[in-house]
Amino acid sequence: MAKPKRRYVCRACGAVAPRWMGQCPACGEWDSLEEEVALPSAGKAAVLEGKAPVALRDVTGEDVMRWDMADPELNRVLGGGLVKGSLVLFGGAPGIGKSTLLLQMALNTPKQTVLYVAGEESPRQVKMRAERLKNTIREGLLIVDQTDVAAVLSACQTIKPDILIVDSLHTLSTAVVDGPPGSISQLKAVTYQLMQAARDLEMAVIIVGHVTKEGQVAGPRLVEHMVDVVLYLEGDRQVGFRLLRAVKNRFGAVSEIGVYVMTGQGLQPVQDPSAHFLTERRAGVAGVAGGVTVEGIRPLMLEVQALVSPSYYQIPQRSATGYDPKRLQMLLAVLEKRVHKAVGGQDVFLNITGGFRIKDTALDLAVVMALASAHADAALPPRAVFVGEVGLTGELRPVPFMEMRIDEALRHGAEPIVVPAAVGKGPASRYAGVRSFATVREVVDEWLG
Ligand code: TYD
Ligand code: MG
Repeated sequence: MAKPKRRYVCRACGAVAPRWMGQCPACGEWDSLEEEVALPSAGKAAVLEGKAPVALRDVTGEDVMRWDMADPELNRVLGGGLVKGSLVLFGGAPGIGKSTLLLQMALNTPKQTVLYVAGEESPRQVKMRAERLKNTIREGLLIVDQTDVAAVLSACQTIKPDILIVDSLHTLSTAVVDGPPGSISQLKAVTYQLMQAARDLEMAVIIVGHVTKEGQVAGPRLVEHMVDVVLYLEGDRQVGFRLLRAVKNRFGAVSEIGVYVMTGQGLQPVQDPSAHFLTERRAGVAGVAGGVTVEGIRPLMLEVQALVSPSYYQIPQRSATGYDPKRLQMLLAVLEKRVHKAVGGQDVFLNITGGFRIKDTALDLAVVMALASAHADAALPPRAVFVGEVGLTGELRPVPFMEMRIDEALRHGAEPIVVPAAVGKGPASRYAGVRSFATVREVVDEWLG
């Protein structure tokens, strides 16, 4: 047998290096390389023993079979339900609600047999949580606290569950390779065995993977390519919405998102997130402006809040929650130079409500308007919504999905809906309540001038 080859894999980005280094050459992370013993390949023999090719049009077999997960948001993100025999990686930061969502799913699916492998909590703890989530715990939901993957799979052979939930990947280990649970070789080997089991036993396997605090995907990223579906649950742990997103889906689109809020009874699906935004808006408050972002292919109305106050520091403070600080700097410079609002010597705080993290440039105008409103200490119209990218000369530029955004705002009674001039002349001109402007200065002059 050939000697196993040694190589080093970065925990943060998955890059491979032939020798150990203090810093990952690909992503720059320190002390992230870990030795992985690559299994020797079977060589040429495997090629010779391969299956004979068949004409694609003659390939037979059943279509994918999907199960209803009794949760409209989860079904939507999965592409219409959980596919039988599929392998799903479910990632997210610790405490975001992964275990809660999966337990809810296991409690609510009507007929599937579910085996829940609890590696992080005792069965008693999981039961307490289940009782909090649902009055009656259905039959057909089984639990085992097990950390050895071989033992889990032998239980699966006996029970033949429809769905296996592994919570979490980091707690399982296999005797096939060396290394402690959670090490790179272990993560890969365990995932590989679960993948085989998903195919052989035709059960859907959902693997929970933790994402580190910095937003880097230690571990889960290394197995993303092995699984059929990769879901991430994101959001602020304390407040606001949780977004469920598919970043890979062999059985559906990756543009769908699911929206939840954490309540005393677990994660509740939010069918109409924009409605929350309107009920929470207060009239007559300076420093707030409405905007419409698009997550995946779903429009969401949200509120931008700004506070501008005289600074007592040599260098004024700039702070952004849920928003790129560099983009904030740029928009402040536009406000200073193109709209002639002196914000340079002021402390500026910006917050996107709802716990969202926004990269969408369509929110530029809402950000500038929130800042200008805070600076002028004057409120904008309470139902106003601002959509458009702001360029360096202060010009307003159209953004993608403009009609979808306008429709969402109209549906929720927003008025006026402020858009770039180029959009106002197009299809949007047929709506009353849509106002179009060429520059950000004109918009500021109109309401705060
Ligand atoms: P959890 O699902 O354990 O997160 P993860 O598995 O991603 O680490 O739960 C996260 C938090 O949610 C936990 O701090 C408690 C809280 N929570 C509620 O607020 N309401 C509930 O009904 C439940 C079950 C949990
Ligand atoms: Mg958990």
